[in-house]
Amino acid sequence: MTTKLNPEKINHSNTLQSSVYFVSLGCPKNLVDSQVMLGLLKSNKFQITEEAETADTIIINTCSFIDSAKKESIDTIFEMSRFREEGALKNLVVSGCMVQRYAKELEVEMPEVDLFIGTGEYHRVVELLQKKALGKLKTKTFVDIPTFIHTAETPRINTGLNHSAFLKISEGCVRNCSFCIIPELRGHKVRSRSVDSLVSEAKKLVSDGVKELNLVAQDLTHYGIDNNYNETLADLLRALVQIKDLHWIRLHYAYPDNFTDEVIDIIAKEEKIVKYLDMPIQYGDDKVLKLMNRRITTQQIRERIESLRKKCPEMVFRTNIIVGHPGETEESYQNTKQFLADLELDHVGVFKYSLEEGTPSFRLAEKIGSVPEEQSQKRYNELMELQQSISWKKNKAMVGKTIYVLVEGLSRESDLLLQGRWAGQAQEIDGVILINDGDAKVGEMVKVEITEALPYDLLGRIVP
Ligand code: F3S
Repeated sequence: MTTKLNPEKINHSNTLQSSVYFVSLGCPKNLVDSQVMLGLLKSNKFQITEEAETADTIIINTCSFIDSAKKESIDTIFEMSRFREEGALKNLVVSGCMVQRYAKELEVEMPEVDLFIGTGEYHRVVELLQKKALGKLKTKTFVDIPTFIHTAETPRINTGLNHSAFLKISEGCVRNCSFCIIPELRGHKVRSRSVDSLVSEAKKLVSDGVKELNLVAQDLTHYGIDNNYNETLADLLRALVQIKDLHWIRLHYAYPDNFTDEVIDIIAKEEKIVKYLDMPIQYGDDKVLKLMNRRITTQQIRERIESLRKKCPEMVFRTNIIVGHPGETEESYQNTKQFLADLELDHVGVFKYSLEEGTPSFRLAEKIGSVPEEQSQKRYNELMELQQSISWKKNKAMVGKTIYVLVEGLSRESDLLLQGRWAGQAQEIDGVILINDGDAKVGEMVKVEITEALPYDLLGRIVP
C-alpha cells in the first residue's frame, strides 16, 4: 500500500531547516511510524513538502513483507533517486522494514542512498539528518533491535483523512508463524503501550476531528502480554469507548486463537466498537495450518466464528488466506475452498505464498519443494472468484437497508458521486458506499438507504 500524504496537514514551518518529501509504503503500522517521523521532523523545524522535486531530503519508509512489496520499495527508491538530477535532492533516505532486513545488501547495491534507517532507529530520524548535515556521521546505516514505541507525547501528524486514524497499541510479535518475516523486522517481543498513553493519543486525534479509530498491532489479542502495565485489550476497549465524540472503534489483526470471551462481550455490548473484525485465518486445512505454525485447528476457527456470530449476529469478518504454502496439496486446497464456502466471510484477501528467506517455510520449501507458480495462480483466481460471489451475495442482502455512513469525499469513480463507508467496511481494504442522491460534508455521519449492490461496493441515497 502506498500512502499519499495529505499536504494540508504537513506543510508549514517557517524556520526552514531542510525540506522533506515522504513516501510511506507497506501496512498501517508502518504508516504510523511514518507519521511519527513526520511529526518529529516538523516539530524540529523541518519543512515537509508534497513536491518531490523541491525537496532536498526524500524519505521512503519501506515494506519487505513479500516479493511484491520489496519490488515496490525498490522501484520507489529508483524513482525518487532521479530527483538528484531533476530536482533539489541531496539526501535520499531509506527507512523501515526493508532496511531492517537487507541493510548490508542495500548498502552495497544502492550507493545512491545516503542514509539507511531500520525499524529500531526510525525515532532518531531528526538526530541522524542533523548529524549528517554537519558531516558527523561515520556510517550511513543505522539498524538495531526494535525496542522503541511512540507515546502520546511523541509528535505525530495524522496524514490521512481528518476523520479517521490508526492507533498503534503495541509493536513486535511472538507468534512465529512459519511463513512470516515480520517478527525479525519488528521485534520478537511484544511491547505494549499503556492504556493512559493510548487514551491520551486517541483524545488528541478526536479533538482534531477523528471519528474513527483503527486499532492496529502485529496482533491485537497479544496486547498487554508483556505485562509492562498489567493491562489487557478489554481494559483498553473499556477506556476508549468513554471518549466523547469518537464514533467508531475498529479492530484490525485479531488472531482467532487468543480471543477472550471478555473481549467478545465488550465488542457485543459497546455501540462504539464496530461489529467488524479483521481476523487473519491464513488457511482452511489442519495439516497446512500446522506447517504454518498457526496453533489453531479449522474446528477451533469455526467455533470462534460461531461464538462471535452468536453474540454479534451482525458481525462483519475480514480475513486473509495464503495459497501455495509449501506442503499445500490439492486436498488441502480443496478443504480451504470448502472452508471459505462454509464460513461465508464478508471480506477475504487472498495472497500467493511468497518464499521468504530466513523463515521456517523457506526451509520447508527447500526440503519438500514449492507449489508451482501456475498452481498457486490458479488457486488464487478460484478463491478470489468464490469470494466475489460470497461478497456480492452479502451486498445484495444489504439492499433496502438504511445504515450510518461516514462520508469521505467525492468518489474515485466519478465527481458526481459521494463516497463513504459503513461500519462493515474498513478504509482502503474493503469496498465503499457510493452515494448518488443527497449532499453531505466530508467526515459527516449520514443515514443512507442502500439501493443497489455491486460485487464489492454498494450504492445508496441519503435519507433523513
Ligand atoms: Fe511490510 Fe513491515 Fe508492515 S514488512 S507489512 S511494512 S510490518
